Amino acid sequence: MSAAFDAGNGKITVPDILRRKTNLASSSNQNSDPGRDRGESGRKIVCLTAYDYPTARLVDEAGVDIVLVGDSLGMVVLGYENTLPLTMEEMLHHTRAVRRGVRKALLVADMPYGSFHGDKNEAVRNAVRFVKEAGAEAVKIEGGERRMELIAQMVEAEIPVMGHIGLTPQSMHAFGGFRVQGKTVEAADQLLRDARAVEAAGAFSVVLESIPRELAARITSELRIPTIGIGAGPECDGQVLVLHDMIGLSLGHTPKFSRRYANVGEAISHAVTAYAEDVREGRFPADAESYHLSGEVRERLLAVRRS
Ligand code: KIV
Repeated sequence: MSAAFDAGNGKITVPDILRRKTNLASSSNQNSDPGRDRGESGRKIVCLTAYDYPTARLVDEAGVDIVLVGDSLGMVVLGYENTLPLTMEEMLHHTRAVRRGVRKALLVADMPYGSFHGDKNEAVRNAVRFVKEAGAEAVKIEGGERRMELIAQMVEAEIPVMGHIGLTPQSMHAFGGFRVQGKTVEAADQLLRDARAVEAAGAFSVVLESIPRELAARITSELRIPTIGIGAGPECDGQVLVLHDMIGLSLGHTPKFSRRYANVGEAISHAVTAYAEDVREGRFPADAESYHLSGEVRERLLAVRRS
């Protein structure tokens, strides 16, 4: 396992993320140690997904705070239509690969659909597997009020939990699709209750996905734990995006909130087309890309062929 936990080496931990809470100075944050330096408070939290060793290394070395092995893995890497078919074994396999690439960022693993929806003890056992077998430092769980007990049980088992409310993709059938959440007074009230419940249960942060900016700002100002937005406006304490969306490598629809910073998909297509043309036209490999025999061995080889 590649994470090194000595203080002072830049490794980002759960308490570091808690100290990033924007309104920490004005709140009575029970999770913070009053003796600790609060210089980091208010610095936005940068979170990105990664799913394998090279993306994990690149994202970590670029200096993000949190690397999330999101269950978006199922769609952007494994080609499933949605996140629901993804299994524990698939998530563990990819989390292990990401673990090998991440040295500094906090590594969070998403609990896949079905891994925490039945028996709570089994859910905790599944969360423990992410820590024990894959090196995750925290798990993410979709759902608000109804996950309160489960989050508390996981925290009791020493597993830091990141909550996730709003448009939770694992609830796509219940929601009737991927829709912005919290747009009516009742729905906004429910999301406020969800956010408070996740915090009260002991989560160290909460993802707010696809909810109106004003509601996310209200939740952010009320909670003592950091909010990490995705399609939830700029007032959140941090932001998360799906890596493949922001680098132009997801092949399906990308949501309005996802800004594209590169077009890696196009770069791969151009490279493969050029390679195929070079092979077909005999331009690849060139002599400089070939190995050579020494003059003596070449002579002998030719002599053997002649005789
Ligand atoms: O699966 C995922 O990538 C996520 C983020 C979008 C928060 O849950």
